[in-house]
Amino acid sequence: MESDIFYSQCWEDPKIVFKAIQPSRGDVIVSISSAGDNSLSLLQFPITKVYAVDNNPYQNFVLELKIAAIRNLPREQTLKLLGFTRSTRRFSLFEKLSNELPTLASKYFKRRKEIIEKGIINVGRFENYFRYFRKLILPIFLNNAQINKFLSLENTNEQYIFYKKHWNNYLWRKLFLLFYSKGIMNKIGRHPLFFKYTHINNIGKNYLKRAELGITKIPVRDNYMMEYIMKGRISGKNGYPEYMQREKYSTIKANLSRISVHTTDLFSFLKTLPDNHISGFNLSDVFELFSDYDYENCLEEIYRVSKKGSRICYWQNLVLRELPKPLNKRFKVINSLATDLHSKDRGFFYNRLRILEVVK
Ligand SMILES: C[S@@+](CC[C@H](N)C(=O)[O-])C[C@H]1O[C@@H](n2cnc3c(N)ncnc32)[C@H](O)[C@@H]1O
Repeated sequence: MESDIFYSQCWEDPKIVFKAIQPSRGDVIVSISSAGDNSLSLLQFPITKVYAVDNNPYQNFVLELKIAAIRNLPREQTLKLLGFTRSTRRFSLFEKLSNELPTLASKYFKRRKEIIEKGIINVGRFENYFRYFRKLILPIFLNNAQINKFLSLENTNEQYIFYKKHWNNYLWRKLFLLFYSKGIMNKIGRHPLFFKYTHINNIGKNYLKRAELGITKIPVRDNYMMEYIMKGRISGKNGYPEYMQREKYSTIKANLSRISVHTTDLFSFLKTLPDNHISGFNLSDVFELFSDYDYENCLEEIYRVSKKGSRICYWQNLVLRELPKPLNKRFKVINSLATDLHSKDRGFFYNRLRILEVVK
């Protein structure tokens, strides 16, 4: 195993979260930490509080490192420390701020110096999976110049033509199906639990369809996620994640006191909150790992802690569930906005985006 970190970047499109939950003045938001990017990016809005929650302590260490970097370093140095720009001095940058980190996170990174040296955004299991893809599969079909060409295309029409002409052939589809099969993913990129509740049989075929949509229907011009998948870096040529955008960095830095980090499972965290307290939820695809029973119970708890009109945004990957019938009167399913946003999703792997609104 590369590390105990599953994701060192967020692969959910932050623009979707913003449009789904519309963060505004005074809001209190619950956000799954994952790698922290989207929880941090919420701080660009005049909200009162973000509770960043994850049951994997290593995910929260990643977020805590990003918080300490933004708090203590100018943007150019944060770009270096986190792995956006090249640097041979990452560990000495880390040492400057290691005392600012919570003790457990600081101890972990001191013990795992190589994680800091590689740049944190490169070390999750999921990012590692893309590294194998980039080294083993992609070069069979595209050389460096072609990859650069693809990443500089102006519109989806050009992307479609490029894909058809240079890339989409029998061998590509076969190798993709193999590489993104359940067996290989279990071995390298995913925890087997991830597949426990899915009814989708051919996982590879599902991801090939999603990848083709991502390649041909989502403008690559500002898709930094696609640049990372294809080149293993985020240079800024295809944009930056929100939390690292030049014009947002100082606002996010100024608002860091509004984020708190909680290592616990979502349901237990919700139990600690008073009624009618939360205005929005960014829940990644956490329900993927929930049984039907736990899914319904968690939604009940979300309802209890939510203010009237609160929005809940989450993705469905391989487990496509409807709103449980007993909750029909408590939540309104916002379908048209979800479908529209999903069709523009730069993190194109997910099968469905769900937006719920609390009716009280
Ligand atoms: C579900 S994963 C994101 C999946 C990823 N984008 C993908 O498709 O591979 C997001 C985060 O949710 C966290 N997580 C999963 N179940 C959770 C739970 N019950 N409570 C809190 N965090 C949870 C994981 O540790 C992970 O960091």
